[in-house]
Amino acid sequence: MNYLDPQVTTAYKVIPFELYDTTLKVYWLPRDVVISDETIELAMFPEDYRRAQAIVAEVKRKEFIRSRWLVREAAGEKFLLPSTEDGAPLWPDHLAGSLSHTSGHVVVAVLKRGEYRGVGVDIERISRMKTDLEPRIMTPGEILLVNELMSFPKKGKRNREFWLAVFFSFKEACYKCFCPLIGKRFFFHDVAVHSIDLATQMIKAGPTEGLRENFGNTSDVLGCYKFLDHPDGPFIVTSVVALNQT
Ligand SMILES: CC(C)(COP(=O)(O)OP(=O)(O)OC[C@H]1O[C@@H](n2cnc3c(N)ncnc32)[C@H](O)[C@@H]1OP(=O)(O)O)[C@@H](O)C(=O)NCCC(=O)NCCS
Repeated sequence: MNYLDPQVTTAYKVIPFELYDTTLKVYWLPRDVVISDETIELAMFPEDYRRAQAIVAEVKRKEFIRSRWLVREAAGEKFLLPSTEDGAPLWPDHLAGSLSHTSGHVVVAVLKRGEYRGVGVDIERISRMKTDLEPRIMTPGEILLVNELMSFPKKGKRNREFWLAVFFSFKEACYKCFCPLIGKRFFFHDVAVHSIDLATQMIKAGPTEGLRENFGNTSDVLGCYKFLDHPDGPFIVTSVVALNQT
């Protein structure tokens, strides 16, 4: 069955993230893009509606349904997407994916498993960031890195909330990518950003002491951030992929 409606293929935006040798496509469905109920229904299973009904807040319920629609658009196929008790989506064996939603906006990335074994994406509204949270989110070394980034006398310089959103979002993306792979929950100080390239928006990071063993050979983690302008935002979107090193 072809459930993809050719009328709506431009409704979402595809944001390219250059990671390793691949362009990771992150699909963004803005809150204000209307997708008809008929189009959504073609991509849904009764199970999706059953799970959505259990979500009390209407905006969250809509995000849930729209994220399932976007996941299947991004993958180009229709498959069930149950979740573990922990909330991690259970992808079909041949796919790795991740999703995030906030304020009615949804982002999704889906990869064919092979060279990559995992992916994480996250979207955050910059205005939600409170700089007094910095020490909870960032290690002392990361705070020094932000001080350095803030000191560059550059046009279009970003404020601390911007950088906090980048670090917060990147760590959430890392959690979604690596938690299912290592089978262990971890927290903000368990991953540390080593450097940020302002030109390419690349993030180089790695696990800190407590988690190094769990990451095995994956000592270098590569991610990327993008700034999304929208009247509801602005937003930061981050992504990270886990290489298949077997
Ligand atoms: C799981 C978590 C990262 C989700 O982030 P969030 O900002 O609350 O919500 P988002 O919309 O961005 O992401 C939600 C999606 O994450 C995914 N997710 C949830 N738990 C997950 C897990 N254990 N592994 C992978 N993905 C997970 C789900 O797809 C979920 O959407 P769904 O319920 O519609 O399927 C966060 O709630 C959390 O528990 N974090 C753990 C502690 C932490 O933040 N550690 C810092 C990382 S270093």
